[in-house]
Amino acid sequence: MTIAAFMAEALLHPQHGYYRTADPFGRDGDFITAPDISQVFGELIGLWFVEMWHFLGSPAEAGLVELGPGRGTLMTDALRAAKVAPEFLEAISVHLVETSPVLRKTQKSQLSDYSPTWHDSVATLPDMPNFIIANEFFDALPIHQFRYTDAGWREVLVGISKDGLELMISPRETPHVSLIDDVITRNAKIGDVTEICPAAISLFDILASGVTENGGAALVIDYGSEFKEPKATLQGLHGHQAKNFLDSPGEVDISAHLDFSALKRAVPPGVCCWGPITQREFLLSMGIEVRASRLAEFATDKEKARIDSACNRLIGPSQMGTLFKVLALTSGDDMPPSCPPGFMK
Ligand SMILES: C[S@@+](CC[C@H](N)C(=O)[O-])C[C@H]1O[C@@H](n2cnc3c(N)ncnc32)[C@H](O)[C@@H]1O
Repeated sequence: MTIAAFMAEALLHPQHGYYRTADPFGRDGDFITAPDISQVFGELIGLWFVEMWHFLGSPAEAGLVELGPGRGTLMTDALRAAKVAPEFLEAISVHLVETSPVLRKTQKSQLSDYSPTWHDSVATLPDMPNFIIANEFFDALPIHQFRYTDAGWREVLVGISKDGLELMISPRETPHVSLIDDVITRNAKIGDVTEICPAAISLFDILASGVTENGGAALVIDYGSEFKEPKATLQGLHGHQAKNFLDSPGEVDISAHLDFSALKRAVPPGVCCWGPITQREFLLSMGIEVRASRLAEFATDKEKARIDSACNRLIGPSQMGTLFKVLALTSGDDMPPSCPPGFMK
């Protein structure tokens, strides 16, 4: 089977899928995401949405949407920060796109004050200006992987041998080869690996169409690069350690770097795409240092050290600061000539 088919089964199988059966977050889980590192992350995103809502004429009814909200931490912090603008809270309804029944339960208890509506996919989001955040969501979407051989691109497949699951190279060209961008093929050398994520492109296209038709804005934050290097980025993670993603399907997180240049190439006319900029640039521009020092004002020395180290983890160049990128979508008609907040140099 293709890696994409394997990934979809391993992550989302209704009974055995990784995101269907467990809560993988936190110290006792498999990974920690930015909202778990510091409340400041979600708060600044909340303020981004308040500013964007004002920028776009304060629509009387709007959706505040999160794709893959995990434990609901980011949304909780964003909504708390948004209390500075009661008129924004009055206008919005909260929508969560989440497939995991386990995580939906946690989100329900975290966000009960806001009566969220859950969606299995973006297809059922309301037809109104939606303000959408996707943090570490796109990296979990199924990818196809290819190796460049003397016969051209050949897809890497998941097969089975007497020792268990293993990767093998397709002997023939598979249909998805046609989706590899010409620029990548022109520069390819034997042995190069490239990855494509049709699911990310079509999701991005749906978000962009929503923004064109209804207004609103979307913010995509994930790890990846603007120009993807010719190497494999697919990885497994278990208990905060790298793990072969073929081992124990359904028990290991599987993700790949997001190819921001592929997303940008897919932007339809009439939509403005901002960035990607680094998470460091975005959070500094949104005022992470000021917010952290406000938090530290009444903190003990131990708490101050914790706040410092958490912020450093979010913006430190050798930590999440440059690996993670931020991209925004706005409607070409709505946006004034200046940049959205956080994207100003
Ligand atoms: C890595 S977590 C990110 C969580 C959260 N955004 C954060 O920053 O902590 C991925 C989230 O997306 C959800 N998810 C993964 N694939 C999904 C899909 N195809 N449709 C809907 N939700 C999905 C998972 O259940 C989980 O809530």
